[in-house]
Amino acid sequence: MTDRHPIRLAVFASGSGSNFEQIVKSAHKGTLEAEIRLLVCDRPQAFALKRAEQLGIPSVCLQPKAFESKIAYEQAILEQLKMKEIDLIILAGYMRIIGPTLLTAYPDRLMNIHPSLLPAYPGRQGIQDAFKAGAEITGVTVHLVDEGIDTGPILAQETVAINPDDTIESLEEKIHAVEHVLFPLVIQTYIKKLKKEFIKP
Ligand code: GRF
Repeated sequence: MTDRHPIRLAVFASGSGSNFEQIVKSAHKGTLEAEIRLLVCDRPQAFALKRAEQLGIPSVCLQPKAFESKIAYEQAILEQLKMKEIDLIILAGYMRIIGPTLLTAYPDRLMNIHPSLLPAYPGRQGIQDAFKAGAEITGVTVHLVDEGIDTGPILAQETVAINPDDTIESLEEKIHAVEHVLFPLVIQTYIKKLKKEFIKP
């Protein structure tokens, strides 16, 4: 990373990729001062890949089952990241636990978004778990990634009310609407912090 170029991002996604799209659009608008260089995907049928094509963002789809181990899988990802000189990794609906290979290569350079107010409702079903528990408040958390599941240092949180007439679908919609605004903002704030730390007087 140098102070002379925009921070270069890779976004990891496994599914729809609506957050990925908002990140790319924010970068195009200039509200996010970053270059989105790569989408990394682990499922060939993920709609995120189609969005990447439509948005003109290079993508790579690597399936873990094609590799003999998780280490080999993550090393293959790492090669792609190195080729693109990626500074910061953004997990946007990437449904895998990050292993030591990527964590060691990108310390404090891996960010995730989770659809609950962590530490409540970690894991794959954050929205459904809050809804089924009858919670009145849930929300969105953006955090740095560590070796745990949704346990890294929290960067920002925003609450979302669960009203009596909400369904899982309406709650999902509200959560995604919050995510699409919050995530690019938090990434931008973090990038500014990284740049400030890099430029020493
Ligand atoms: C989001 O709700 C995010 O919080 C969670 O996975 C979902 C991804 O949605 N980690 P999308 O693929 O960005 O539409």
